[in-house]
Amino acid sequence: MKKIVLLLAACAMAFALNAYPTINKVDKERAAKLVSQMTIDEKIDLISGKEDGFRTLAIPRLGIPSLRMADGPQGVRNINGKNIHSTFFPCGISAAASWNREAVHEMGAGIGSAAKAHGVQIMLGPGVNIYRSALCGRNFEYYGEDPYLASETAKNYILGMQEQGVMATIKHFALNQQEYDRHGVSSNADERTINEIYFATFRKAVEEAGVGAVMTSYNPINGVHAAENPWLVRENLRKWGFEGIVMTDWTSTYNSVDFIKGGVDLEMPKAYVATREKVRALLENGVVTEADLDEKCQEILQAFSAFGFLDADLSADPSAEDAALSQKRAYELALEGPVLLKNEDNILPLKPGKKNLIALMGPNANIMPCGGGSGYVQPEDGKGVTLYEGLKALGKNYPVEFLGGPNPEVLKKASVVIVAIGFDKLTETEGRDRVYGLDRLHNEAVEAAVKYNKNVIVVANSGGEFDITPWADQVKAIILDWYPGQEGGNALAALLTGKVAPSGRLPFTFWGKLGKNPAQKWYKSAQLHPSGNRDRYPFTEYGEGIFLGYRGAEHFGVKPLYPFGYGLTYTTFDYSGLKVVPAADGFDVTFTVTNKGGVSAKEVAQVYVSPVKPSVIRPVRELKGYDKKLVAKGKSVEYTIHLGPEAFSYYDVATHAWKVDKGEYKIQVGSSAEDIRLEASVTK
Ligand code: BGC
Repeated sequence: MKKIVLLLAACAMAFALNAYPTINKVDKERAAKLVSQMTIDEKIDLISGKEDGFRTLAIPRLGIPSLRMADGPQGVRNINGKNIHSTFFPCGISAAASWNREAVHEMGAGIGSAAKAHGVQIMLGPGVNIYRSALCGRNFEYYGEDPYLASETAKNYILGMQEQGVMATIKHFALNQQEYDRHGVSSNADERTINEIYFATFRKAVEEAGVGAVMTSYNPINGVHAAENPWLVRENLRKWGFEGIVMTDWTSTYNSVDFIKGGVDLEMPKAYVATREKVRALLENGVVTEADLDEKCQEILQAFSAFGFLDADLSADPSAEDAALSQKRAYELALEGPVLLKNEDNILPLKPGKKNLIALMGPNANIMPCGGGSGYVQPEDGKGVTLYEGLKALGKNYPVEFLGGPNPEVLKKASVVIVAIGFDKLTETEGRDRVYGLDRLHNEAVEAAVKYNKNVIVVANSGGEFDITPWADQVKAIILDWYPGQEGGNALAALLTGKVAPSGRLPFTFWGKLGKNPAQKWYKSAQLHPSGNRDRYPFTEYGEGIFLGYRGAEHFGVKPLYPFGYGLTYTTFDYSGLKVVPAADGFDVTFTVTNKGGVSAKEVAQVYVSPVKPSVIRPVRELKGYDKKLVAKGKSVEYTIHLGPEAFSYYDVATHAWKVDKGEYKIQVGSSAEDIRLEASVTK
């Protein structure tokens, strides 16, 4: 009887851990006991990847299982060294462009459930490096330029995933803003810039989402590689209270002593600098101690135990994922991300009618676009829904003809021409930066369409801004569709026809010309180097400092083509009745949004805080709150957004801490960083 009660209690505990796993609930004693029972070789083996490089070591005699990892971050990419099929969600930039916390939470939950189904305990995502230049090859995996929007997106993704009992890994820590020579170019930035712009996502993930693991980046930071950087891990990450696993990115270590002393726990994908031979030699001559190994093993095992991995059945459990629910989650997020940049003459939504022929062309019209590298996921059915398939599925009222190339007859007689262009897994990918302009074939497709038809709509796939100047003035509508995942074709068809009104907003500043971006002056990439790829830059200076994106547009006086937070829909909104009232630790900002048109749509209301007389130089305004709500046609909806102390603070380099100045602040509410509709003043 006693045994049964104990067993039930243990099950209940395991269930509780599995239901709400978070690194904030570590069991230090249990981990310490295990560490005390391990041999030196077991300790050395536990601190690096094993087998296919996506596993940790099992120590069966101590009941320590081998944990499986997988990329990340748009779905489950790989198992046992092979790419698999799994639900492919919209990419990171699309998730950020949704400004929809619930939909992103569902994405995390969907990928978490797929991970469980495949027997994966640690997912290698989300990717959260801040967007600095359009050229970064991995912008598509990340969450845009603003630390607040990116942190909120990351937090909700992580919470969704970890509620499924799967550990999330936030990556790449830190200052990994370019893919060009990513192992070599040091990211050199000052302390304030690092804290205000580049650490924010990681810090919130630790403090508010209880993320289980952090992956360091390839690049050196101020001259020291991230995987061997005690300042990064010990002086920052651990001081935020992080008690989980810090792992290296795949093949990013250089020196055994620096790795062992640096504070990172796990060398991936296998031992290079932390082999038994190398570590044993260092132990023997006293350069490293057993305590150094114990520290890593302790951190690894306490994270395992916090997530219940030491007790749970870790085998693949296909029943963990509800395939229909995953598909629904992918579809719903794909509806939220696309950004309508331009809609002249209200050409969109498409008008139904058997005679209103839609001509569809362009290289991306009948593919499922995706960026490449470790973020590429093969969709569940192997192909996903293309735009052509999505439009065809609408039925007879939306007749569509897909053109392999420009076809003057058809183009002339069509009511509208949709041209699908952009990047893909070969042109926007990990390991190299991309170019600003589209491939010639893509621009030529738009040029051919405008030659024969006045009503051209461009839909584009990319992870960020690109050169639209060759044709932007000649087309009626432009939609940025990012990489929308396996349901992208269905979702875009629903948006184009107005079944659902677009509601995505830019998560970065769309400058319109590469050189207008103030950060570009300091950004290093092969494209900009007079001698091409062969010459290496030792470092990239983050010379724009905290004035990145819209912060820089205001500060340096540059007018972007489309501001941060911008996006059209099929109606317009009025803002009224702003009230800012003191609340427990800050203020509640309340206002009303009224839909003035004949179409129900979601509005992303944005709250910016603007210090009136700051004691140090600060951005004119910074995003500190937002909410997205459906506002039915002709109706009004009230928004309430809370601003806590962090909404007013800046990083003070004298004290190395966050500080709030006393004085007056303007609270600005609007629908983009440049479209402020309401303003009030508060005093701190
Ligand atoms: C990427 C990581 C990825 C890892 C494993 C690296 O090249 O930078 O983001 O998780 O490979 O595939």
